[in-house]
Amino acid sequence: MKKIAVLTSGGDAPGMNACIYNLFVLCNRNGIELYGVQRGYQGLIDNDINLLTYKDVENSYSLGGSVLKSARSPEFRELEGKQKAFEIYKKHEFDALIVIGGNGSYRGAKEFSTLGANVICLPGTIDNDLNYTEKSLGFDTAVNNSVSAIDKIKDTMTSNDRGAVIEVMGRHSGDIALNSATASNADAVVVEEVPHTITRVIEDVKRAIVRGVESPIVIVSENILNIEELASELENRTGKIFKTTVLGYIQRGGNPTVYDRNFAMELAVKTIDLLQKGYKNRSVGTVAGNIIDVKLKEVEDKETNFDFELYSLFRKLND
Ligand code: F6P
Repeated sequence: MKKIAVLTSGGDAPGMNACIYNLFVLCNRNGIELYGVQRGYQGLIDNDINLLTYKDVENSYSLGGSVLKSARSPEFRELEGKQKAFEIYKKHEFDALIVIGGNGSYRGAKEFSTLGANVICLPGTIDNDLNYTEKSLGFDTAVNNSVSAIDKIKDTMTSNDRGAVIEVMGRHSGDIALNSATASNADAVVVEEVPHTITRVIEDVKRAIVRGVESPIVIVSENILNIEELASELENRTGKIFKTTVLGYIQRGGNPTVYDRNFAMELAVKTIDLLQKGYKNRSVGTVAGNIIDVKLKEVEDKETNFDFELYSLFRKLND
């Protein structure tokens, strides 16, 4: 093992930098050259690749985003794009490519590995939408960012006796919404994984009002419903003013939490360990507090590992 490359792909996630930093240090210690590929798979196609030095990673440990930049590459989705990228991979004589990304990046990695590349995938996405691992890098930070924003919205809503409908990210995964809802003591949550109706949300909110809640909070995962329409329906049915907020990118930026920094370190250690032992085409993750690895080809293309137990606890408190 002499020469490996790393890239970050898809939406960036807090903790990616800490992971790259740790990979750099471990490679350095073990006499391995670590190359940084810029802008995800597109950088591989374009041969935008540099040997990383300490200067490239210093001071990045605690920063959100990715020092390597991240992107979604339409060209890499096509076979021709992957073949071009594979030519570059071979030209550099890389022993492995480390991909830090989410669902779509894993799909690309699996296909790329069938051309002959050795790809190690690390879960890096705020969406937590990879079903072989209980957590992905950046998810904990995104939920903490979201909860801190919801707390602030709640302060001002409470002072004016208003309700709030707050949309969070997650693409098609309800994990950010659910965890934000439980941690911010919200009154209703709408996620794709659980069949929902506007009537049910209204009932949840009305029940909260009967309990004495003056500023009900509703958390909605993105891509499900129009929050303006929901807010106006809630106003009509409760007589209360409801304000809407789309939290957006504030969830994705910022310093990674302690959990994400430590997870980044664990992922990096496991990756270098696997590579040194000669493993090929693996995905690293975490299950029940342990760092695990599975065959890359066995990672199912399912979008979620939604925590139904946590959801039922939320329902117990809000039914
Ligand atoms: O996959 C991460 C994510 O932040 C999703 O939660 C969101 O739907 C999407 O990326 C936004 O993508 P973009 O950065 O391309 O707007």
